[in-house]
Amino acid sequence: MEQKEDKLKEVISHAKEYGFVFPSSEIYDGLAATYDYGQLGSELKNNIKSYWWKSMVQMHENIVGIDSAIFMHPTTWKASGHVDAFNDPLIDNKDSKKRYRADVLLEEHMEKIRLKIEKEVEKGVKRFGDDFDEHQFRATNPNVLRNVEKIKEIEDRMRAVLESNDLEGVYQLIMDCEIVCPISGSRNWTEVRQFNLMFSTEIGSVAGEAATIYLRPETAQGIFVNFLNVQKSGRMKIPFGIAQIGKAFRNEIVARQFIFRMREFEQMEMQFFCRPGEEMKWYEYWKETRSKWHKALGLGDNQYRFHDHIKLAHYANAACDIEFNFPMGFKELEGIHSRTDFDLKQHEQFSGKKLQYFDPELNQNYVPFVVETSVGLDRMFLAVLSASHKNEVLEDGSERTVLSIPAALAPYKVAVMPLTKKDGLPEKAREIIDGLKFDFLCQYDEKDSIGKRYRRQDAIGTPFSVTVDHETLENNTVTIRDRDTMEQVRVNIADLHRLIDEKVNMKTLLV
Ligand code: GAP
Repeated sequence: MEQKEDKLKEVISHAKEYGFVFPSSEIYDGLAATYDYGQLGSELKNNIKSYWWKSMVQMHENIVGIDSAIFMHPTTWKASGHVDAFNDPLIDNKDSKKRYRADVLLEEHMEKIRLKIEKEVEKGVKRFGDDFDEHQFRATNPNVLRNVEKIKEIEDRMRAVLESNDLEGVYQLIMDCEIVCPISGSRNWTEVRQFNLMFSTEIGSVAGEAATIYLRPETAQGIFVNFLNVQKSGRMKIPFGIAQIGKAFRNEIVARQFIFRMREFEQMEMQFFCRPGEEMKWYEYWKETRSKWHKALGLGDNQYRFHDHIKLAHYANAACDIEFNFPMGFKELEGIHSRTDFDLKQHEQFSGKKLQYFDPELNQNYVPFVVETSVGLDRMFLAVLSASHKNEVLEDGSERTVLSIPAALAPYKVAVMPLTKKDGLPEKAREIIDGLKFDFLCQYDEKDSIGKRYRRQDAIGTPFSVTVDHETLENNTVTIRDRDTMEQVRVNIADLHRLIDEKVNMKTLLV
């Protein structure tokens, strides 16, 4: 655990030192759970957005993208259920004065039991070596079976109390599980209360005419209210999707863990409208498609897992998360929800307008069902940054910190470095940049020794470093160094564009 916390701290400090992420309004001591993306962070974030947009919109001819307003008519949030039901159950520890989400305390408790099971299995592997039959072991070992049963019992009770909004029951479950506050170590808990996560403000300048409006807590509703606008103006035929990237705001109770849980964050959401009854087919399709999208980044297939929701949101008939192995452990990265026709029907009811589709093949009007994919951009950023951050000991015993960011997402694609600041080498380096800069973000770097410059580029994840030396002036060749292998080869300047493109083009991820 301590090691994991150290890893997160290291990533946070690296992100700040190299201009990826800064605490927001830091000169005023920052603002909790709010962060600013710096010069390199914005590039990485834009590249992640572009990867998502291209894969969703550009690669699917039946998906289009929109950009709806953050402010929406307040009735939107009545219709969507957020005014009444977008709550988190919270509980305070009276000794540490720390506040927690009750459901998260229970999830973490179950995760600890799961770890015990895995430790038991590990012991079995050590004890029995090659003869170990894991399947048999899991099915018969009394400690494993006891813990599996324990998790199931907690899950069942948790589902029941959360679904019936039985806050006393949630409290009792926390007490029965003997969950202690991680800070004070005590079980001195307050009762459990509900807390609405929406931020509100007022619109209108004339006193009395002001109305409460909300900062959107998800981008999805901007898609639902535009369903017919897009369908009609784009002549879209079901099944089709509407995608959107944008800010969302939630007054999170427990906002820790860097950019993982923020009060202002960005979502990349897609609502896929389909025929009623076909939603489970599309739910499975999107689970697989989104899983492939993540894995194509090469951060390690075993870094992801699916987690089915215990308590379904008020709008869903099936839901799961794609979890990622963050420095804090496996946590939600993306949600995939089968939202039925809940949202469109609610908007029909509250607006009094029909939100239906005429299906020419069925010769029938209906309210489409929706499968949603929703991934947090900031969480994607943290996943990429934390999985890419490595401290390596090299063959000669020296050390380097490298960000092995997938090349297509890296902020700078290439650094061009004159060996010295004289003899026309800087001019030649700039000439090379002039040939590359229309397609790739390039950095010119002439300060310090070449070794130090390489280390700097490693630390910001630049896939290629090109060095211009005296030989360049004679025969138009340069050395190109690969960030990951650190190999250097001499190539013609004329080949640079192709060599770089082969590795950094977004196509490498999209095919
Ligand atoms: N429209 C559905 C929806 O909003 P969600 O599971 O509440 O579903 C979707 O959120 C994704 O948004 C999450 O999987 C997560 O990646 C991201 N997200 C949610 N709350 C967040 C927060 N406070 N900070 C950063 N990302 C967040």
